[in-house]
Amino acid sequence: MKVAFVKPGTAAPGAVAVGIYHGLQQTAAARRLDRATDGALSRAIAAGRFRGEVGEILPLMAPRGVPARSIILVGLGEAASFNGLAVERAAGALAAHVLSSGETDLAIEVDAPKGSTVDGARIAAHLANGVRLRGYRFDKHRTTEKPDAKPRLERLAIHTVDPAGARRSYAPLASTAESALLVRDLVSEPGNVIYPAIFAARAKELTSLGLKVEALGRDRLKKLGLNAMLGVAQGSSHEPQLVVLQWQGAGKSGGEPVAFVGKGVTFDTGGISIKPAGGMEEMKYDMAGAAVVFGVMRSLAARRARVNAVGVCAMVENMPGENAQRPGDIVRTMSGQTIEVIDTDAEGRLVLSDALYFAHARFKPRAIVDLATLTGSVVVALGYEYAGLFATDDKLAERLLAAGTASGEKLWRLPLTDHYVDLIKSDIADWKNDGGRWCDAINAAMLLKQFVGDTPWAHLDIAGMAWTKEDRPTVPKGATGYGVRLLDRLVADCFEAK
Ligand code: BES
Ligand code: MN
Ligand code: ZN
Repeated sequence: MKVAFVKPGTAAPGAVAVGIYHGLQQTAAARRLDRATDGALSRAIAAGRFRGEVGEILPLMAPRGVPARSIILVGLGEAASFNGLAVERAAGALAAHVLSSGETDLAIEVDAPKGSTVDGARIAAHLANGVRLRGYRFDKHRTTEKPDAKPRLERLAIHTVDPAGARRSYAPLASTAESALLVRDLVSEPGNVIYPAIFAARAKELTSLGLKVEALGRDRLKKLGLNAMLGVAQGSSHEPQLVVLQWQGAGKSGGEPVAFVGKGVTFDTGGISIKPAGGMEEMKYDMAGAAVVFGVMRSLAARRARVNAVGVCAMVENMPGENAQRPGDIVRTMSGQTIEVIDTDAEGRLVLSDALYFAHARFKPRAIVDLATLTGSVVVALGYEYAGLFATDDKLAERLLAAGTASGEKLWRLPLTDHYVDLIKSDIADWKNDGGRWCDAINAAMLLKQFVGDTPWAHLDIAGMAWTKEDRPTVPKGATGYGVRLLDRLVADCFEAK
């Protein structure tokens, strides 16, 4: 898709989309087209139920009086709460409509509501971003669909009085979006395509952006003592990999890095505590945390962020092989603490206990944020709207919550007080990896907490957010890339030298 920012009035032969605010407040562009078509827009609005809610669509085909093949009215929602995210949601809904209509040329004209502080260039940039995020497809494994039959947008023209400003505003959005789309690709790939060694190889490609990338295989992990991670991997024929990405954007004087740690279970069968067959194929996305870490590190390097950051991706496959670990096994973690493996399907917390300790011990980071599709329990609690946030540090939690609101990748904080710690104490080892029926998302977080020392730490349980079974305004069904924009925003607002 070619994206162009052009002056209003540029001829548009395909579909022309104009915005309408809630309560049917027409934008200047809508009024202009209404006049040119002798009132066709007003008549169409009067004839139906269109109200101007965010993302509402009303198409007018083959209008008289303009060269466009169609005019599409797009709801922009309440003028008072109009912002970049609302623009993206509206643009995403528009993109879905246009893609299914067969139209390949789209021009959009949206002006800010009267008295708004959102400037036109930013609106234009977010329009383009919303279209791009929703227009994503993962179709590399299809061989029978003819290229011509694919829904696709070839040209997108955003009309704005300030095309140069819009281009400047769009560049960073587009760069972060590119990383998020790459994460969607990685997460969409099945377990036979992406396993630890392949993920490591993909990470090594990022060295071209200036990242330093290492991958520690089985022997190195054994020497370092990451036995909890190795225990999960031992049932699989795929060698585990701890992938470490470093970005030194603030140089030596920039101080200790901020660390991101991701759960990278490239497929989670449950191991010997095997999962039921129905829906098990979804567990290819159990490496989404690691993929987001990959995406954030890529994004920081791509925009040459003035920050020191490290990413640790803990890559394993959880399989019930003949050498698989058993329920009841006890593993000695890198930290020296022992964990009794009650349930081999609670593997994420085992893998992360070592990956977190590794990040803490090797880098002495100023903060650690981990992401993991860790528990079904967090989905029971929060559904598909918020990721669960757990933190030992209130300031870090506040910063993450703010970045969540700003990026639209929302978080909800859950408790992590010592009231819960007894639930994960083992009878014969230090800890156990299953705290019983209730509050498992908290129990899992509580276990992780034992491995970060006094480093300010936050844990994001993204089990409900990494994948969507339904289309969302800016995410077609499938892998979401949730987390890249959130953490990129966190770094930009809180950790980057200005
Ligand atoms: N990867 C799963 C958690 C998960 C569930 C992710 C649904 C995405 C969607 C995790 O490894 C797991 O199996 N957790 C168990 C823990 C239980 C055995 C204590 C769970 O949540 O049921
Ligand atoms: Mn599991
Ligand atoms: Zn898992």
